[in-house]
Amino acid sequence: MTDVAGKTIFITGGAQGIGLGMARAFALAGADLALADIDADALDAARHELSATARTETFPLDVRDRDAFAQAADDAEARLGPVTVLCNNAGVLGTASVTDPSPAVWDHILGTDLGGVFNGVSVFLPRMIARGGPGHVVNTASTAGVRGGRLFEYSAAKAAVIALSESLHADPDLARLGVRTTVLCPGGVRTRIIDHGIAGMPGGTSERQRTRIDDERMRTVVEQCGLAPEDVGELVLTAVREDRFYVFTDRSAQADLQERASAMLAALPEESEHDRRLAEARRRLGPAQDA
Ligand SMILES: NC(=O)c1ccc[n+]([C@@H]2O[C@H](COP(=O)([O-])OP(=O)(O)OC[C@H]3O[C@@H](n4cnc5c(N)ncnc54)[C@H](O)[C@@H]3O)[C@@H](O)[C@H]2O)c1
Repeated sequence: MTDVAGKTIFITGGAQGIGLGMARAFALAGADLALADIDADALDAARHELSATARTETFPLDVRDRDAFAQAADDAEARLGPVTVLCNNAGVLGTASVTDPSPAVWDHILGTDLGGVFNGVSVFLPRMIARGGPGHVVNTASTAGVRGGRLFEYSAAKAAVIALSESLHADPDLARLGVRTTVLCPGGVRTRIIDHGIAGMPGGTSERQRTRIDDERMRTVVEQCGLAPEDVGELVLTAVREDRFYVFTDRSAQADLQERASAMLAALPEESEHDRRLAEARRRLGPAQDA
């Protein structure tokens, strides 16, 4: 989509941090903004700031609430016209521990970081398809999604966001309609995600669980060395304009990507008669996905 001027952009988690960075970039490019966020005060501040540059409407929304998401979509389209770009960006950081797992923390992280993305896709994609496109879905994952790690719930959610995005990107019907996908995999970005994560952890979180988020290394990567959210917003704007799929904000995932791909390739068995039969079936039936 070469031109976003006059198009409506719906951004979840749009009141602060990376979502606000996206909003600023799209505003300067002449787009109209629909910002949705669970934090009503931050939404008011964002509207106050952005109204000077762009038509801006705000929608208090918990992305985990499917019905409310559909209502926000109706309201946004009634006020600003059809949503052409959807940025599923709202997300929370948090963890219990893989050796001390917590169903409440799992539901909180997966419900927001993965469920929120699914809700956005399930609400807006049918509308983009019914209009015959074009459209663009931007899903915010993380470099944490290319490797399992200490924040195992967060990594699981973000890995699933990458896989969901790859599925959209590979779909021939969406490609035909000009409905594109971008998956944003930020490294450290200078936002308040750590403090928000600590404050938002579900009740009953033990001190031991809390300190797993309040980690000095992570604070350094995010709060001291992190990119400015506006720079990430510019990367997203460019990805939408130039139909780019993967967007990384730095090279911090390089070693993990290489090690993972090498380890997986090394784990493949020796080629056998079974592989030759599978390859022959694929040639006959066309590309298919394995269970
Ligand atoms: N900051 C980083 O270093 C970093 C790195 C990788 C990925 N990310 C991802 O970027 C996205 C944005 O994070 P950020 O760093 O800007 O954090 P942030 O905490 O500054 O912003 C997140 C925004 O999402 C909103 N939000 C949280 N839960 C919500 C819900 N249930 N419904 C609606 N809105 C909700 C918050 O109110 C906030 O405005 C997240 O998906 C995060 O996982 C951030």
